[in-house]
Formats: sequence, C-alpha cells, structure tokens
Amino acid sequence: MRPHFFPFLTQWMVRRWVKYLGLDEATKLMTWNNGDPGFSLRANTGRNITRADLVERLESLKVPHELSLHLEEFVRIKTGLQTVVQAGLLKEGFCSVQDESAGLIVSVVKPQPGERIMDACAAPGGKTLFMASCLKGQGMIYAMDVNEGRLRILGETAKSHQVDGLISTIHSDLRVFAETNEVQYDKVLLDAPCSGLGVLSKRADLRWNRKLEDMVELTKLQDELLDSASKLVKHDGVLVYSTCSIDTEENEGRVEAFLQRHPEFSIDPVTSFVPSSFVTSQGFFLSNPVKHSLDGAFAEIVIPNEGMPISKEHSKRGDLRINFEIGFPSRLTLEQKTDLKRVLGGSGIGN
Ligand SMILES: C[S@@+](CC[C@H](N)C(=O)[O-])C[C@H]1O[C@@H](n2cnc3c(N)ncnc32)[C@H](O)[C@@H]1O
Repeated sequence: MRPHFFPFLTQWMVRRWVKYLGLDEATKLMTWNNGDPGFSLRANTGRNITRADLVERLESLKVPHELSLHLEEFVRIKTGLQTVVQAGLLKEGFCSVQDESAGLIVSVVKPQPGERIMDACAAPGGKTLFMASCLKGQGMIYAMDVNEGRLRILGETAKSHQVDGLISTIHSDLRVFAETNEVQYDKVLLDAPCSGLGVLSKRADLRWNRKLEDMVELTKLQDELLDSASKLVKHDGVLVYSTCSIDTEENEGRVEAFLQRHPEFSIDPVTSFVPSSFVTSQGFFLSNPVKHSLDGAFAEIVIPNEGMPISKEHSKRGDLRINFEIGFPSRLTLEQKTDLKRVLGGSGIGN
C-alpha cells in the first residue's frame, strides 16, 4: 500500500502504523480515523446526577443515545452533540463530553474516598473532574499543570461541577515540583503530553501537524515526567502512566525504559479494573479505536517494590498473586516474594 492512498494522513504515520500493526490493521485504523467520530457523555455524579437523569434529558431533547457497556456514568451519542450544547447541559455542569477511554483510565486509578491523588498533568481536567466525583466528598485531587490558562479553566469547570472543594490546583512544571517538594501521594496519575495518535478521528489537525521529530521530543519528555512522578508516590502507593496514543514507543516503550531506570518499581496488571478485552498480554490497558469504537488510549500501573500496597483497594483483586501463579514479570527480591506469599496466604486470590 502506498501512503498516498490515505492522503489525509502524513506519510510517516502511515509507514509507522503499517510497520507496527501490519497492513490490514493499519488500513482499518486509518479508515476509522477518517470516519465521523462518536462522542460519549458522562453524567456528573459529583452533583448527584445519575445516568438515568442524563438519559431523561437526552430523551426530552430527542438526542439518540446508547448506554455505555463499560462505565455506569456514560452514554454514547453519534449525533446531537450540538443540541446538548445548546440546551446548556455542559455549561450547567449536568454532564461532560468525555470519551469512555478517558473514563476507563480513571477506572485504572480507581480513586477511593479519603485518598490524596496527584493528577500531575491535569488540564483541561476531564480526568480530574471524574476522579473528584469518585471521592464522595472525602479526599483531595491535586491538579497540577504547567499551563496556567488551562488550569484556570479547570478550576472554573470544577465549580460548575460542584467538585471544587475536592480539587486543589497547582501551577507548576512537574519536574520542578518533584525536585523541590518532599510531599507524597496515595496515587499519582501521569496523563502525559503525547502525540495524540489515538484521537485522530476527533483531532483532524494532528493528522498533518504532528511530525516524526515530535516523537523523539515527546518520548524524552515522557521519560523525564515519569521519573519526576515516581518521586511523588508513597512507598505503598501507585503510579498510573497514561496517554491518548496507541503508539508503542510512547506507551509500552516508556514503561520498559522506566523499569530499566527504576528497578525499584514493578508493573501491577490492570486486570481487575477494566473489562478483559482492554487488557494487553503485558497487563496494560489499551483501547483500540477499531476494536472498541472508542478513542485510542493507554494506561499502566507501576508500584514501588518496597511496601507493596497490600492494605489498599488496589491490591484487593489479587493481582499480586498473578506474579507468582503465572509468572508475571515481578521485580521483587526472593525475600520480598516469600514475605508477600506469607501475607497473602495459601489461596490469596480475592483477599
Ligand atoms: C494530555 S494533556 C492532559 C489531559 C488531562 N489529563 C485531561 O484528562 O483533561 C497533557 C497536559 O500536560 C501538561 N504538561 C506538559 N508538560 C508539563 C510539565 N512539565 N509539567 C506539568 N504539566 C505539563 C500540558 O500543559 C497538558 O495540559
């Protein structure tokens, strides 16, 4: 296949996808990217608005919709977004436009009431707002971003969503903040700046503006941000790295490079947080536009080896067992493994 068969994409993208995905999958992906995008709406549960309330409003507006199969707050719409905007549903904070792939990244973080969560690249704040609404009034999301204007918009939206009491904004470069602050968090989400190659159906501009050289700069920045984010994780905390890209270099490649630089961290599979069709053989979350009819996105969890989070929600699903039972790559020492086995007991799963 010649790149000019897909004139709406730059040649380097076409070549890259054919190389990584093979001709068939790359063709399907490029066709998907050229189609009409669908949208998802998230009912603002932070304001006690349920999906049923949202469905009622959509029905009264005659906007066709389907319930999300994966997330109980979400509905999908193919048409009618303009009607939703004109009716003021977004402005009044009744719901947000948010892709389910972004919602599933929040599922991977699984915010729990009482937790202190650092959202290290937060603006414009789609995930921040959803995470805040999961806290049920207890805990705090620290929303950091280097871009002050975008952070201000986040603060304003938080007010209309009535979750502003659960969000504290921090205007800073993550790298500077991690160097100059000792504070640590139960969970750190690093939703890193990326190529956006998973969202080309909605971000047409990226199809021709994104350059191959950008990938080198972006992966360098992602490595630096991962190093900084890891300093902010408590010894029994979790770090979630995510992107809205489907590019192996920005996703699996960054995790592998991080673990080589930081053998004191291990991968913790996402298995219990998202439906199995989204879990890769390495235990990462990946939404595939063609397979799932969603934006492309990626997330993975790493945890410090020392002081595994055995008392946290994040370990209740028994993923630590997977390390022993099916040989998932673990960077624990033999001594740590023996200790952990003793704590988990004989059958361990589900504890
Ligand atoms: C992919 S966007 C985040 C999207 C956001 N998490 C959401 O769900 O709406 C990446 C963000 O990282 C921010 N950023 C880039 N470099 C940064 C840095 N060094 N420190 C902090 N934030 C940074 C950008 O300003 C941008 O808002």
